Amino acid sequence: MNKKLVKEVKQSFKEHFRTKPLIVFSPGRINLIGEHTDYNDGFAFPAAINKGIALAISKSTSNVSSVYALNKEEIYAFDTSKIKPLVDGGWRNYVIGVVAELQMLGKQIGNFDSVFAGNIPGGAGMSSSAALENSFVYGLNDLFDLGLTKHQMILVSQKAEHNFAGVKCGIMDQYASMFGIKKSALLLDCRTVESEPFKIDFKDYKLMLINSNVKHDLSESAYNDRRKVCERVSELLHLDALRDASKEDLDRIKTDISEEDYQKALYVINENNRVKQFSEAIKKDDIEALGNLLYQSHEGLSTNYKVSCKELDFLVDRAKENTNVLGARMMGGGFGGCTINLVKKDEFKKFKKEVSKRFRATFEYDCSVYSVKLSRGTQIVKKENN
Ligand code: GLA
Repeated sequence: MNKKLVKEVKQSFKEHFRTKPLIVFSPGRINLIGEHTDYNDGFAFPAAINKGIALAISKSTSNVSSVYALNKEEIYAFDTSKIKPLVDGGWRNYVIGVVAELQMLGKQIGNFDSVFAGNIPGGAGMSSSAALENSFVYGLNDLFDLGLTKHQMILVSQKAEHNFAGVKCGIMDQYASMFGIKKSALLLDCRTVESEPFKIDFKDYKLMLINSNVKHDLSESAYNDRRKVCERVSELLHLDALRDASKEDLDRIKTDISEEDYQKALYVINENNRVKQFSEAIKKDDIEALGNLLYQSHEGLSTNYKVSCKELDFLVDRAKENTNVLGARMMGGGFGGCTINLVKKDEFKKFKKEVSKRFRATFEYDCSVYSVKLSRGTQIVKKENN
C-alpha cells in the first residue's frame, strides 16, 4: 500500500465528487522466473510489489459513470448500460472492460464516480494494467455487493484484457496483483491457479529492476502470435498445453513444424523446468543456482522465444560482466520494459551507477533503476489508513 497515492486520490475525489469513497489499493508485480509459461498452463514465480494503483470509488446517483485518471489528468464519462471497446482507448478500455465482463456474468453494475492514480512505470513489464483492472473489479465487487471470490475477480480482469485491450494474456499478472503476500513470492501453478508462497531472503543479495524505458506494446500481435504458436504445437502433440510436453515429445514432431516454432516450444518446456529448479534452489538457499537460472532464462527468451530487444540484451550483458551480479534476465512480456537482477547488497549503488552510465553512453538516453519490496495483494484500504 502506498500512503501518498491513497492521500492523493482521496483529495482529488473530494474535489470532484462530494460522496465518501471506498479506497482500494492494487499492486503491480515482478516475476522472478517463468516467463510466457502462464498461458501454457505452466509455472511462474511472481510477487506483488510496493508500487501500484490507488482507487477511490463510490456509487453515483446520476446516469453516468466518471473515471478520473489523476496522473494523466484525463476524465472519462460513460453509461454502464452502453459499453463497447474503444479504438485507441488506452486506460479506458481496462476500466470499461472490467464493467462489461462483470455484466457478462449477469451482475448489475450501477453508475459510479472514481479517481485513480498510480506509480507503476507504464510499459515497464510490471503490470500496471492488471493493477488497474484488479482495483476496479475489487472496488465494484464491494460497492455493488457482487459476492465474487478473488479467483472469480481475476478471471474478470483477465477477460477485460483479452476482450477490451486485445491481449490474450495468461493469468500470472492478475493473480500476483490480487493474491500477493508481504515479503513472499508465489510459486504459481497456472493450471490449477493455486500457489505456494515462498518467503524470500536472498541473503547478501537483493533485487534490482532496470527499466530500459523501451515501451512495449503487448497488444501488437507479437504476444498473441507467441501464444498461437504454443497452442498449435500442443495441438499437434495431442496435449492440452505445452506444460505437459517434454523435449522428447517435441523432437518426435520436429520435422512437422518450422525451426522457429520448435525453438519457441522448446523454450517453454525449458523455462517451465527452470521454475521448478528455482523453487528447489530457494529451498536449499543456493543463491548461485538462482542467478544461473536467471541468465539461462534470458538466453531462452532472447534467442529461442525472441521476445527481447537490444537494450534488454545490453543490460543483461553488463550484469554478466559484473561479478557482484549473480543473475539477470528480461522480465514480463518483453520487447522492452525491465530486467530483473540479483545484485550484491553492498555493491548495489556502484552497479547502478556503472550500468546507468554505460547505458547512456550507448543509447543516448537514460535507463531507470528501482528496488522493490514484495508486498500484499489487492486490498481495501482500512479507514484508519485513509
Ligand atoms: C505479460 C502477460 C502475462 C505473461 C507475461 C509473460 O505480462 O500479461 O500473462 O504471459 O507477459 O510471462
